[in-house]
Amino acid sequence: MTSSKNQVQLFSQAIRPRRNRRSEAIRNGIAETHLSPEHFVLPLFLKEGKNQREEIKSMPDYFRLSLDQAYSEIQDCLDLGINKFALFPVISETLKNSEATEALNPNGFAIECIRQIKQKFKNVILFTDVALDPFNSDGHDGLVKNGEILNDQTVQILADMALLQAKAGADYVSPSDMMDGRVRAIRHHLDNHGYTQTGIMSYTAKYASAFYGPFRDALDSAPKFGDKKTYQMDYRNSKECLLELMLDLKEGADMVMVKPALSYLDIIRKIKQKSSVPVTAYNVSGEYAMIKFASRAHAIDEKKAVLESLTSIRRAGADLIFTYFAKSAAGWINAE
Ligand code: PBG
Repeated sequence: MTSSKNQVQLFSQAIRPRRNRRSEAIRNGIAETHLSPEHFVLPLFLKEGKNQREEIKSMPDYFRLSLDQAYSEIQDCLDLGINKFALFPVISETLKNSEATEALNPNGFAIECIRQIKQKFKNVILFTDVALDPFNSDGHDGLVKNGEILNDQTVQILADMALLQAKAGADYVSPSDMMDGRVRAIRHHLDNHGYTQTGIMSYTAKYASAFYGPFRDALDSAPKFGDKKTYQMDYRNSKECLLELMLDLKEGADMVMVKPALSYLDIIRKIKQKSSVPVTAYNVSGEYAMIKFASRAHAIDEKKAVLESLTSIRRAGADLIFTYFAKSAAGWINAE
């Protein structure tokens, strides 16, 4: 053996991080981050009709489901240990208008979905979307006048919308619109009507992102003009997530969300450090599509890529993850 200076240093090394990585038993025993089906929230795209399973082109293996199909999907999820769902109804073009009136139809499809699912599955937790874009002919999350998104008028509608959802059985109404002051308005409105136990899961730091593309395809809800940059956050910024967090906590949010997830792990961490309520992250449609298309092209291993990215979202600080991979990930986790 030659004893060059370098080798001597190497062999006298006392600290060897690889010791703790040398067997699976050790690695599993000391892993800091865990992923379980209880951490997942599965988004459901719901459409009217019967026996409908319509694959979304930009989201391979993901479907718009009629309610009867959604029931079997929910049952499959419950069997896998997933009991939380986020509902996104597809609204027919003919019901959309510039006042988003269908959002306040107490017998409309969106509200009916909540009622029916809650009736059939008493113990599932439902997160219901509070925003106008699926109902608005402009495709924006708020009312539009002369090209501007109206904040305060929108907030009033959102509060009414949230109350209808609460009455139908929503567990967490989830404002995803990014209007200022909507959490306060929703909390007051719910409390004034006796819905003190309905939670608010606020999309606190929601960035204007290219990664929402496939979702807008799924709901046919892309904005008809402009973009969402006057209400969703600017991805060049980080500090303002703390302002949004402070407001949402003061206004009564029970959970706060960061969205998207994978390009925003720093924001998840920052919010986790300052938040006194649980933090959720939305692993969005574009993040789903990237892994799906890459794995179909045999560029990456889907299972490994999914488990690694979901774990990284938990490691960054998310308590719950909204993810289209919930079902497959739960299957893989349970098989291990
Ligand atoms: C709209 C809403 C969006 C998503 C959830 N709620 C899209 C948007 O803001 O345009 C995106 C979710 C996803 O991409 O998976 N209120």
